Amino acid sequence: MARTPLIAGNWKMNLDHLQAVAFVQKLHWTLKDAAHDENSVEVALFPPFTNLRTVQILIDADKVPFVLGAQDLSTHDSGAYTGEVSGVFLDKLACRYVIVGHSERRDYHHETDAIVAEKVQAALRNHLVPVICVGETLEQREESGPTAVSVAQLQVALEGVPADADVVVAYEPVWAIGTGQVASPEQAQEVCAALRAVVAEKLGDDAAARTRILYGGSVKSGNVASFLREPDVDGALVGGASIVVDEFAAIIRYQKHVGV
Ligand code: PGA
Repeated sequence: MARTPLIAGNWKMNLDHLQAVAFVQKLHWTLKDAAHDENSVEVALFPPFTNLRTVQILIDADKVPFVLGAQDLSTHDSGAYTGEVSGVFLDKLACRYVIVGHSERRDYHHETDAIVAEKVQAALRNHLVPVICVGETLEQREESGPTAVSVAQLQVALEGVPADADVVVAYEPVWAIGTGQVASPEQAQEVCAALRAVVAEKLGDDAAARTRILYGGSVKSGNVASFLREPDVDGALVGGASIVVDEFAAIIRYQKHVGV
């Protein structure tokens, strides 16, 4: 089954809503100038919550060929949860995706595997596609090998997920995020293949064949094609390089600069 590659830009806590307008329009023009084929790859933008409406207006007005995602969501749909953002609201804003279990949330906000699993359920019941992030620290890699931590994290996250659910998985080795220390394509492939086996075990072979598995961690225009050439890597979750217009446009156009 052919899987449409997904290039996802996680802005993290960067770009205010005015900068977002300028950025998104410039990205669109840059791709247009380069005659980028919009259908060859899906591009999702994950701005901060305060910019979702701004970017959604541009998408809604059919001005830009991107889809919208949020960086996180609450485990609850409504109620007394100060500061939290409900999946109901994200759905209303026409978000398609929501990142769940990013290592920065697991680390700085103490999100456990159980909380991540609850967020996956919150996303699915609100018609959002969770982008489930998993990945090991360097110590964990040395202790238990390259795949064990990611496999265990994904097994918990997929608990109770129906076989026909739409999910995306992102392998993001913690030691490669924002460090410039990128995993090799072979290392990414090894873990992504193991994660696909988890999807097969939990959701069945059809789901494993259609589910996109991304690599994330210091992805740049110069290395993205080498990851996307691997059979089990279906896209990239890009942090730092996703807020630099020319760099992100070059990542989106990865097929152009190295034959895939
Ligand atoms: P990075 O971040 O591309 O800056 O390494 C990736 C991520 O955290 O999603």
